[in-house]
Amino acid sequence: MPKDLVIVGAGGFGRETADIVEAINAAAAQPVWRLLGLVDDALSADNEERLVRRGLRHLGSADELISGDQRPHYVVGIGSPAARRRVAGRLDAAGFPAATLVHPQATLGSEVTIGDGSVVCAGVRVTTNVQLGRHVHLNPNATIGHDTTLEDFVSMNPASSVSGDCVIETGSLVGVGAVVLNRLRLGAGAVVGGSACVVKNVASGTVVKGVPAK
Ligand SMILES: CC(C)(COP(=O)(O)OP(=O)(O)OC[C@H]1O[C@@H](n2cnc3c(N)ncnc32)[C@H](O)[C@@H]1OP(=O)(O)O)[C@@H](O)C(=O)NCCC(=O)NCCS
Repeated sequence: MPKDLVIVGAGGFGRETADIVEAINAAAAQPVWRLLGLVDDALSADNEERLVRRGLRHLGSADELISGDQRPHYVVGIGSPAARRRVAGRLDAAGFPAATLVHPQATLGSEVTIGDGSVVCAGVRVTTNVQLGRHVHLNPNATIGHDTTLEDFVSMNPASSVSGDCVIETGSLVGVGAVVLNRLRLGAGAVVGGSACVVKNVASGTVVKGVPAK
């Protein structure tokens, strides 16, 4: 029996997440999820049209979801760690269980743990002894090296790489194509710009960019 699921956020990552749900269902003997639709408080006309083209339903706002009787599983398909944390906090408090979605074309190595609400896209490589917290987003082709921890609400944007023995603290974002060298720590809420190469620890709440990242 498939479990009911809603995706919060109908922007780019929310609709990519809908693709992941379809891929998971297609790869399984029986469908795992029944996608009820997407929740979005401020659906743009473009995104509304994109949902219609794909036959996906807009379920209204998060307030409407919370005030309803149903308590389907949810994932937050919003790239911003801070926005994701706010939405997940509300849905957790209202009794919605968080789903974990891993695209069948991602690989997770040995001794990998993954928290509720996390979304792993196609092409992701997670090697060995990696801890992924809750509501972590691993975008397409992100790689996470051995013995690394990604805390809750971390976003790894497409093709970004974290090397071995790193700690990426809660709410950090690693931009598209950026690299974090081994044995480094990003403080909570740090942002690494696209294509950057991080060569030393980054303080909490700091934005760094460039090669080497500063
Ligand atoms: C680094 C980043 C967070 C900075 O954002 P911002 O503070 O809004 O920066 P701005 O766009 O105002 O640019 C400020 C300056 O930094 C430069 N800059 C911006 N991003 C840069 C990057 N990734 N690398 C190098 N320089 C960058 C700009 O050219 C500008 O330079 P200038 O002052 O000489 O004109 C952002 O540009 C970034 O790279 N975000 C990640 C994007 C990403 O991963 N997208 C994929 C989504 S799935």
